[in-house]
Amino acid sequence: MRMYDIIIKKRNGGVLSEEEIRHVVTGFTNGDIPDYQMSAFLMAVYFQGMTDEETALLTEAMANSGERLDLSVLPGVKVDKHSTGGVGDKTTLIVAPIVAACGCTVAKLSGRGLGHTGGTVDKLESIPGTRTSLPKEEFLDVVRRTGIAVTGQSGNLAPADKKIYALRDVTATIDSVPLIAASIMSKKLAAGSDCIVLDVKTGSGAFMKTVEDSIRLAEKMVAIGVHNGKKIAALITDMDIPLGYQIGNSLEVEEAVRTLQGDGPSDLTEVSLALASQMLHLAGKGDLASCEQLAREAIASGAALEKLAAMIEGQGGDPDYIRHPERLGKAPVCAEFRAVEDGYITKMDSEGIGIAAMLLGAGRETKESIIDPLAGIILEKKTGDPVKKGETIARLYTSDERKTEAAGKRMQEAVAIGAEAPEKRPLIYARVTEQGVVR
Ligand code: URA
Repeated sequence: MRMYDIIIKKRNGGVLSEEEIRHVVTGFTNGDIPDYQMSAFLMAVYFQGMTDEETALLTEAMANSGERLDLSVLPGVKVDKHSTGGVGDKTTLIVAPIVAACGCTVAKLSGRGLGHTGGTVDKLESIPGTRTSLPKEEFLDVVRRTGIAVTGQSGNLAPADKKIYALRDVTATIDSVPLIAASIMSKKLAAGSDCIVLDVKTGSGAFMKTVEDSIRLAEKMVAIGVHNGKKIAALITDMDIPLGYQIGNSLEVEEAVRTLQGDGPSDLTEVSLALASQMLHLAGKGDLASCEQLAREAIASGAALEKLAAMIEGQGGDPDYIRHPERLGKAPVCAEFRAVEDGYITKMDSEGIGIAAMLLGAGRETKESIIDPLAGIILEKKTGDPVKKGETIARLYTSDERKTEAAGKRMQEAVAIGAEAPEKRPLIYARVTEQGVVR
């Protein structure tokens, strides 16, 4: 079998066989297929797409390219969630402890942030002492003791995805529905949970800019999960404006803790409760309404906050930072971003704000960049809010004063003020399951 023939077949719109897809994935992972041929193949997939069958085969080949975690050694129903990536999205820190407090088992592998999006691993590392690269046995042991652990992905989990993703990143082939679906689902299958809830973001700060594209992606991923015997559902949620008011690692931990104390912003609370209810529902804890009630009770009783504290302690961190998140502190330099005229905020472009946070030190421009855990942005206003000239819209925190200028410029481009309040966008657009799409 020749890679050249497979590239031609896909380039001309052909449907690849299981053998051909396996040849591509194993050949590229073990180094037999060079980057230039894989790049051509990815671009052919980008333009020609893949059938559901091809996408499922690609996912399986990628999931089987390395170790697959066997979570059957853990008690209870194992539930996982995945977000396609966003700005200010700290829902894992809220949702995972809620469902663990309700009796589910959460053994979750998370990623780091890149570019304008944040990652849970970086947020956890902003809590002093917290370890995020636990060896497998230790990871399973923390879950056995506390019901929950969230760690970084080991290099041996879906290694094909790691290599393919790096190539997609530099060949303009990220935003392809079959490639994103296979990338996410290969990791989810290899991570071994019984139930998976996907948070598919839509809007300016997301890979999928329109609701229809986000639904198409969700449908593909749900179909792959069902085909592999998983209980799976997806929510399409808004990422046109950042989620919550705080962006940046320790700032997001602080806001997540406040949400677990019942005092979080309404958008973040609503999305977190919706995700937690879906996870509890898939785990067999009742219908969606009673699962939402369970999630609310886990917050009101303090049980969810204590789960997060137990997890942090299990992973070597100081749980006192969870009970008193103000101890995390903020970066020493604070620049105010102010309104230049009276009016309403008509746009707060998530991607631009994510880039501004990255420029302040909260994110990575390249994989090698060093994160400043205390850097980031606190929004004082959001889309739809009235503002007066000179009023503070956001506070920019950094440890390096020189970074405020570039970040401030990005904020100017990301935020628009107009004479009329814009129409309010929904937070949750649709739910996608095996049964179909409910809008
Ligand atoms: N997240 C992933 O893990 N993979 C993609 O392709 C896109 C988002």
